[in-house]
Amino acid sequence: MAVLVTGGAGFIGSHLVEELIKKDQTVIVVDNLSTGKIENLPCSDKVIFIEGDISEKGFVKELFSFYSFDKVFHLAAVASVAKSVELPEETHRTNFDATLYLLESSIGKVNRFVFASSAAVYGDLLELPKREDMPVKPLTPYAVDKYASERYVVNAFRLYGLDSTAVRFFNVFGERQDPSSPYSGVISIFIDRIKRYKNGEDTEIVIYGDGKQTRDFIYVKDVVKALILLSESRDSSGEVFNLGTGSSISLLEILDILKEIVGDLPPVRFEKERKGDIKHSQADISKIKSLGFSPEYSLKEGLEKLLFSE
Ligand code: NAD
Ligand code: UD1
Repeated sequence: MAVLVTGGAGFIGSHLVEELIKKDQTVIVVDNLSTGKIENLPCSDKVIFIEGDISEKGFVKELFSFYSFDKVFHLAAVASVAKSVELPEETHRTNFDATLYLLESSIGKVNRFVFASSAAVYGDLLELPKREDMPVKPLTPYAVDKYASERYVVNAFRLYGLDSTAVRFFNVFGERQDPSSPYSGVISIFIDRIKRYKNGEDTEIVIYGDGKQTRDFIYVKDVVKALILLSESRDSSGEVFNLGTGSSISLLEILDILKEIVGDLPPVRFEKERKGDIKHSQADISKIKSLGFSPEYSLKEGLEKLLFSE
């Protein structure tokens, strides 16, 4: 039986697909290519790409009537928080409705269901590091949809016996993260600006606020390792897990590391703090560690890989 990866042509999804085919799995990728790219996918006869929109119920039903899936990794989403604020109804269809369509189709048919949630569900509550049993405060349509989806996902274990798990990603970085929007992941933007600067372009790094805000950045290969582990563990059913490294770092400290690696950096300009930005974020990862997970890559190793990749 095949494995379904929704959003498999996107940043994180494409790394997961790469790893699954190394494990000799046949992978069906469903993606509407709204932010994903077909070029992100490895060329392999183990990968079947279907262009489609998971917010169309009929499409999801047809997909499940045509294929049998052993596992579903549900990663497709409108991943931009800013876009969810701008277009709440449109993004809700992908970020929430589609989760229900996939769950309903999976109950009684699929052996494992893993859902990509977000640390955004914690909002701006101050207590750190975040544990899964702490209160949540989803502040944007994106965060509300992720939280509602994850409740449906984990409840599907208790109510219908679907082996389902929700994973709250903290700040993921790595190859193929698209730096093209101001709302792209900050590391992808910094790396893009450094590469341009090295090529003689007139560019700069912008920091919103004082640069002392902190995040828990996890390298994408570690995220993939965790997703596969969760999909293989019986103890993860009906549970929510944080996925970060357990430590956080400020933007200014990241710039110091980048300077150490590449020498000089583009000029840095400070702008007003972004509205709605949270100051600090850090995961408590004891729960996922108890299943045997530990991150392999340090932030510096991940940054070096990115800087010296094409
Ligand atoms: P991404 O935008 O690269 O990937 C999302 C993929 O979903 C894209 O390929 C896109 O084309 C596809 N997609 C969007 N709407 C679709 C639809 N209606 N039908 C089919 N495909 C659709 O983003 P990513 O960073 O790889 O994010 C993957 C998942 O991880 C998302 O669910 C995101 O919310 C979650 N997440 C990411 C981060 C991060 O730091 N990158 C943090 C927390 C959570
Ligand atoms: C990120 C994710 C979000 C996820 C959340 C969970 C991205 C794009 N966003 O949000 O989907 O739900 O983590 O933890 O991956 N910044 C700059 N300069 C820039 C760009 C950003 O200073 O050029 C600042 C931002 O203002 C922010 C910090 O860097 O303070 C991190 O920003 P960003 O990478 O967008 O991530 P989050 O907002 O944490």
